[in-house]
Amino acid sequence: MPESVPTCLSGTVVHGAGRGRGLGFPTANISPDPGSDVPPPAVYSGWLARPATGGVHRATISIGTNPTFEDGPLIHTEVYCHDTSDDLYGERVELRFVARIRDTVRFASVDELLLAARADVLRSEALLDSAHGRRARPVFT
Ligand SMILES: Cc1cc2nc3c(=O)[nH]c(=O)nc-3n(C[C@H](O)[C@H](O)[C@H](O)COP(=O)(O)O)c2cc1C
Repeated sequence: MPESVPTCLSGTVVHGAGRGRGLGFPTANISPDPGSDVPPPAVYSGWLARPATGGVHRATISIGTNPTFEDGPLIHTEVYCHDTSDDLYGERVELRFVARIRDTVRFASVDELLLAARADVLRSEALLDSAHGRRARPVFT
């Protein structure tokens, strides 16, 4: 990760537009803690840690305005967990960023977005399995 990108972000899971589940990509929408340094809009690979349960999950993170859906100017921080479909609503979570995967794109169709998101998750899996990805994994003691 470039040094200017923070590697850690804490926040609370809030309700999003509710589209993700229907698309096959349910995401946890994170409201970052006030004053947090949110990384620039892009798609990232990372870990999602749940202090409440001690769980650590493999994740692909989208930060951006969801331009494909013209959601408006607000920046959304959305996390797709590869290995749990638990409803995290209301929980505090911590994100550890491992690598930037690509720019956010305004796709011409939802199908194109889904194709790209599937490829992002495959790339993210490989990045999390890399030595750098494993080192970034949070450990609860
Ligand atoms: C892996 C991944 C990649 C994404 N990439 C983009 C993108 O390039 N452009 C975009 O408009 N939205 C992108 N999104 C965000 C989706 O538009 C968003 O998750 C979806 O609209 C559901 O939003 P909701 O959870 O608020 O309902 C991405 C989401 C994921 C999980």
